[in-house]
Amino acid sequence: MISRRTFIKGASGCAVGMVSVGSYSRFLEPRWVEISNVTIKINDLPKRFEGLKIVQLSDIHHCKYVSKDFIRKCVRKANALFPDVIVLTGDYVFSDQGYLPPVAKELSELRAKDGVFAVVGNHDDKDRTYDELHKNGIRLLINEHIVLYRAKEYIFIAGIDDIWKGDTDIKRALKGMDENPKILLSHNPDAIEIIQHEDVDFVISGHTHGGQVSFPFYGPPIVYSKFGTRYTAGLFCEKNTIMYVNRGIGVSNLPVRFFARPEITQFTIKNNLQCA
Ligand SMILES: [Fe+2]
Repeated sequence: MISRRTFIKGASGCAVGMVSVGSYSRFLEPRWVEISNVTIKINDLPKRFEGLKIVQLSDIHHCKYVSKDFIRKCVRKANALFPDVIVLTGDYVFSDQGYLPPVAKELSELRAKDGVFAVVGNHDDKDRTYDELHKNGIRLLINEHIVLYRAKEYIFIAGIDDIWKGDTDIKRALKGMDENPKILLSHNPDAIEIIQHEDVDFVISGHTHGGQVSFPFYGPPIVYSKFGTRYTAGLFCEKNTIMYVNRGIGVSNLPVRFFARPEITQFTIKNNLQCA
């Protein structure tokens, strides 16, 4: 039989543990940004694009729990990587679209030699996001693509509308492309279902937040994907398409992160196809 003293000691230990985990997941981990370095190998990459550096920020979710100061720090971290291209893969706010102008203003400080390109997420009002991002020098790609030139060599960067809230049209996004490398921005990794049947080399996604809360030896109890935990975070290879799923910067629903640190990804693009 457990004595009263032992019970109180145990209960106190549990309470202290719970408060510590709560404080860590509420105040520490959501601000503890990890810079992930990922090498992506693409077949027949033109010589002038060897070593192309792409930096990704995703799921910023500016709201009362994800401050302008924190976003500014993330922008500085991204700029410090001296990227050639910066890509933003959607969800700039949580629900209140009034946060769009301030987050777009912070993102206007992003610096990349070849430009900043973006797609919308399921939390974004498409028209307002388009206006705010364009006003701040960021090109939003909705079922369309741009051609990135280096002298006479080029690659494509395309973006699709969100598959939950928008009108995704992958054919339109890729229309007119030739055999040169194709990089596609898609907020939601579930789009791989349609993308893997197309001629796309590399897909850059976000949306899952890495589950946002994940338990050691178990993983995340909730991932907003029709494929469950299959595309929670990291690098995947489907047929000839490589996909990376970034854990995002901000939080949604609950203002916590646990074993799913916020992430800025730095991709280095190299020649030859294989999962790195
Ligand atoms: Fe999100």
